[in-house]
Amino acid sequence: MSLLTRRTFLAGAAALSLRAEAPALVPDKLTKFVDPLPIPAVAKSAGLRTMAGGDTPRVPYYRIGMSEIETKIHRDLPATRMWGYAGSSPGPTFETRSGEGLQVEWVNNLPTRHMFEVDHNLHGAEADKPDARAIVHVHGAKAPPDSDGYPEDWYVPGKSATYYYPNQQEAATLWYHDHAMGITRLNIYAGLFGMFIVRDNVEDALHLPKGRYEIPLIICDRSLRQDGQLDYMVSGIPGAPWVPEAPGEAILVNGKLFPYLDVEPRKYRFRVLNGSNSRFFHLSLSNDQPFMQIGTDQGLLPEPVSVKNMMIAPGERVDLVLDFASYAGSQIVMNSDSFVLMQFRVGSERVTDTSSLPRKLRPVPKTLESAAVKTRRLRIIEDKMPNGDSMMMMLDGKHWDMPVTENPVIDTTEIWEFVNTTEDSHPIHLHLVRFQILDRRAFDELTYYRTGQLRYTSNPEPPEPFEAGWKDTVRAHSLMVTRIIVRFEGYVGRYVWHCHLLEHEDNEMMRPYDVLPRQVTTK
Ligand code: C2O
Ligand code: CU
Repeated sequence: MSLLTRRTFLAGAAALSLRAEAPALVPDKLTKFVDPLPIPAVAKSAGLRTMAGGDTPRVPYYRIGMSEIETKIHRDLPATRMWGYAGSSPGPTFETRSGEGLQVEWVNNLPTRHMFEVDHNLHGAEADKPDARAIVHVHGAKAPPDSDGYPEDWYVPGKSATYYYPNQQEAATLWYHDHAMGITRLNIYAGLFGMFIVRDNVEDALHLPKGRYEIPLIICDRSLRQDGQLDYMVSGIPGAPWVPEAPGEAILVNGKLFPYLDVEPRKYRFRVLNGSNSRFFHLSLSNDQPFMQIGTDQGLLPEPVSVKNMMIAPGERVDLVLDFASYAGSQIVMNSDSFVLMQFRVGSERVTDTSSLPRKLRPVPKTLESAAVKTRRLRIIEDKMPNGDSMMMMLDGKHWDMPVTENPVIDTTEIWEFVNTTEDSHPIHLHLVRFQILDRRAFDELTYYRTGQLRYTSNPEPPEPFEAGWKDTVRAHSLMVTRIIVRFEGYVGRYVWHCHLLEHEDNEMMRPYDVLPRQVTTK
């Protein structure tokens, strides 16, 4: 369905709506660069504790509440009602070190009524389910299954869950967000997300910019009304408000619209996260300066890669170094296609920069295809909903509640091939693991439909240099086979894999998977 059709639907729906809604806001009419870029606070631990019932060591304990908040998105807008962690959206940033575990008690203090319309046709969001449910997942964490935030393990206001994050993984930019079955798109859109940074000695030794020269940029799009309130697009079909994607015209960076950041003429490190429901960003700078990309979802690249047009899909992270040294006194705007995101104001006073951007970062040993014990061919498809009205996206033609089919054995390596038969690029994310992209290859659609055979129409293309590191989310392009190689390490148990376009994820484009224990062979 085209955007135009959906908008017409939306107009029709407005008549049915009981809420008196303010008209849509045109963000471009607001004055740009009047608010400084907020930097999320660092999460504070409430002391050391042992895990209840476990024999885990005493580790820092955090108690983080989810609640409704009022926040200023822009100087000239009234405060916006949102949902946040520890009183803010984005929530506070977790600062952690590799091998140093921590526990978080995630407390649901949300209102019992959702701020957006729940679609009860979606699996797990049926009318008998409470409206405001929540559960937290740390995206990219190698966490035990009972601390991973399984979508069905949601809990209601007044309840909490205490999760253990061992952080037995290399330095990386992770993020946490809601994952409640059937309403993840609405909970994240309301503001339930934040950053979770893992550091280690290897990274420290590189002397990258740090402290106030290392800044998270959490970017997401929203639709706003003129009264400053969030608007989540609806289909216009009574009782079935789900839409296949929910793009907004207001792009928020760390929760602000068109913020500015005062910088010194020196190097900065920016950890960029695309926290949008469905919008892909193509970042570029007004002075045509390239970004030096130093890391991907799961850590450092082998060497910095210069990128002028940075593409980031929902769920993906890029770790960047920008050197403002030769731009003293100038103003640089960061854009995404026709959207203005934020402004950097470079000071004119000379400074000494003791940080470095080494030519070599961290080796990323290639996982060899010969290490794989199994190859799974998994289709990405779109289908009609049973009501015939709207689309449903599926992974390998299977619904969420069908028996588990992906069941790798712990400490084995597999190749997963995503055969994308749809018109969209889908960012596919696997919980628990990190992986490498092998290649992408175009195939003939018609032959595939007629015979189920893959007739390739291009040579395999290796990953772009800027995605040739450790990943946990991969863009599976339209009419291509995207292959990844994964070693299933860490824990045995049930996890999920899904599309990170949140509207898709909530509508069947998510599957459970099991990491099985090593086979015990008897003689
Ligand atoms: Cu970022 Cu399953 O999620
Ligand atoms: Cu998708």
